[in-house]
Amino acid sequence: MNLDEKFLKGKGALITGGASGFGRGFAYAYGHRGADLVLVDINEELLEETSKKVEKETGQNVIPIICDVSKSDQVEAMAKQAFSELDNIYILNNNAGAGTGFYKDPFRIKEDLFDKTIALNLKGQWLVAKEISKKMKKQNFEPLKGKIIHTASIAGVKVDPGIPVYSICKVSVIAMMQIFAQSLAPKITANAISPGYHVTGAYRDSLDVMKMTMDQGHVKTPLNRYGTVEDVVNLAIFLASPSSNFITGHNFIVDGGIAEVGVPAHYLKSDI
Ligand SMILES: NC(=O)c1ccc[n+]([C@@H]2O[C@H](COP(=O)([O-])OP(=O)(O)OC[C@H]3O[C@@H](n4cnc5c(N)ncnc54)[C@H](O)[C@@H]3O)[C@@H](O)[C@H]2O)c1
Repeated sequence: MNLDEKFLKGKGALITGGASGFGRGFAYAYGHRGADLVLVDINEELLEETSKKVEKETGQNVIPIICDVSKSDQVEAMAKQAFSELDNIYILNNNAGAGTGFYKDPFRIKEDLFDKTIALNLKGQWLVAKEISKKMKKQNFEPLKGKIIHTASIAGVKVDPGIPVYSICKVSVIAMMQIFAQSLAPKITANAISPGYHVTGAYRDSLDVMKMTMDQGHVKTPLNRYGTVEDVVNLAIFLASPSSNFITGHNFIVDGGIAEVGVPAHYLKSDI
């Protein structure tokens, strides 16, 4: 099918972390394809700004909901509001997340930071999927009642000892997505996108900050350019479209080749 068509007309999409980066990119892309949107974020000011801009540019209904996805009471209230404002949520992008700094020693991370990182990047995706899938299961769309798209990371594909807790979370997000795919089949699909290095709010929207991070980790990109939000959005459009209806339980890497061949051997600090 032509992926520029309005294949999401009459459908709702809920995007966590919708105020910035990939989430904002998904919002514009789905809005242009006819979806009404619920944008969920903890950053009140940016959420307001993004929602207004997306609504103006796409002409779709955009509902901003402030919510910390790591808090079950807030996620329950958010889901209730989302389904009271839209009559369906066909696409869920479980996307909110954030990394930590670099650590030379994985055992030096403070317990509090460990707990917060897991709560945001892992538990948050579980809480949101739990609340949204309850009602998604009862929707009348055919052949699928809904689609869940998780944002994982190449840190969950090749574990990175410099960002240990984040890596643990993203490995687990991929595992959790596969469990959801099994338990929600045959009427709801679940897949994941694993980006590499893309300029977003995660790098303070700065190419310099991202470049510095990549240099620090000796990361090379075989396709010899930096990742963009659009690279990831293009895959999300496919996963949200009927063209991917026979795909579930898979993790798709969008990284210019880094996870396979872009981390040179000296990164492992071996003498041999
Ligand atoms: N940028 C990259 O290169 C990259 C690579 C791999 C994975 N990722 C993943 O992509 C996802 C999106 O990140 P991004 O790069 O677009 O960064 P971003 O900072 O631009 O967007 C993340 C959004 O999540 C929101 N958020 C943070 N904590 C929240 C919470 N507790 N509740 C609700 N919202 C919260 C932030 O306010 C922000 O708007 C994350 O899961 C991140 O781990 C990013």
